[in-house]
Amino acid sequence: MNYGNFLEALRGLAEETRLRLVALLAESELSVTDMVEILGQSQPRLSRHLKLLCDAGLLERAPEGVHVYFRLASGEAAGHLARGLLAFLDKDDPVRALDRQRLAAIQRSRAVSAETYFQRHAAEWDAIRSLHIPEAEVERAIHRLLPRRKVGDLLDLGTGTGRMLQLCAASAERAVGIDMSREMLAVARANLDGPDYRHCALRRAPAEKLPFANASFDVVLSHMVLHFLSDPELAVQEAARVLRPRGRLILVDFAPHDATVLGPDHAHRWAGFSDETVNGWMREAGLVAGRPVSLPAPSSLSEGALTVKLWRGERPDPTEAHIPAHRADPNFELFQ
Ligand SMILES: C[S@@+](CC[C@H](N)C(=O)[O-])C[C@H]1O[C@@H](n2cnc3c(N)ncnc32)[C@H](O)[C@@H]1O
Repeated sequence: MNYGNFLEALRGLAEETRLRLVALLAESELSVTDMVEILGQSQPRLSRHLKLLCDAGLLERAPEGVHVYFRLASGEAAGHLARGLLAFLDKDDPVRALDRQRLAAIQRSRAVSAETYFQRHAAEWDAIRSLHIPEAEVERAIHRLLPRRKVGDLLDLGTGTGRMLQLCAASAERAVGIDMSREMLAVARANLDGPDYRHCALRRAPAEKLPFANASFDVVLSHMVLHFLSDPELAVQEAARVLRPRGRLILVDFAPHDATVLGPDHAHRWAGFSDETVNGWMREAGLVAGRPVSLPAPSSLSEGALTVKLWRGERPDPTEAHIPAHRADPNFELFQ
């Protein structure tokens, strides 16, 4: 940060309403409507403060349908500065305590609408779940494919309820989930309200056209999303584009199956994917494809049970003169 930016950030914080906004946004993503409710100030007034805070690099804004969500800037020096200064703020300060109480009420109402959404879809999801290996085992397998080192930036495509972010948040310095469904993002927002997820952000965006620069993530993950996409190969190309050299792509979906097992109303566009197909897409996108992991359903499950597959790829590092022999082997254990 140069002197100018530093001073601009300090000036941004040096006003009571703005400090209250920053303190709230360090805890949760909020829309302007949420902030009007918490602070009891007019929307135009708060919007002016928010603009100033964004211009000072303290906040990030993410448009989502009719709403715009704000959060403390995660990758920016000004965001770190704000977090550092907030640590000196007395938690029991009466103004802050009241703001937090009102924030908690908003978080509770998010959780209630998430619950309602779940109840509407629970039967359909339970039906699919009953056809494959328990989710906990799939999640353990995903965890094993994450790099052993701490991940800098992680992206979850089609984050849905934010489950993958919850699973991987502790392994990453910054995690972003994207999804096209506003309802799902609302559920994810409720699930990610909490101190363990302050470095997680949510964006409404299509997996086929990511709003991120080339080479901006170390891990891109997608769990049970490919089969919904009209053009899954395009999503793989986009994922590869935003990966840094030696960055890792992890895709989880079903092996080819008889689509009728899911019933007539399921929204899956694809009845699973073969290893050749997914690894071919990865190679076309410039990735080195690793050995897929197969998680068949337990034999106790009914006929038509589904096999869960995990595919992984790595973006080669152009500074490496040659791929070491053990990594050119298609069966090699990638990256560990
Ligand atoms: C079965 S859910 C999986 C959610 C999450 N990955 C998980 O494992 O819990 C599929 C998600 O993909 C999202 N989705 C579907 N098409 C998408 C697209 N083109 N771009 C981004 N997300 C999409 C849906 O909104 C939904 O939230």
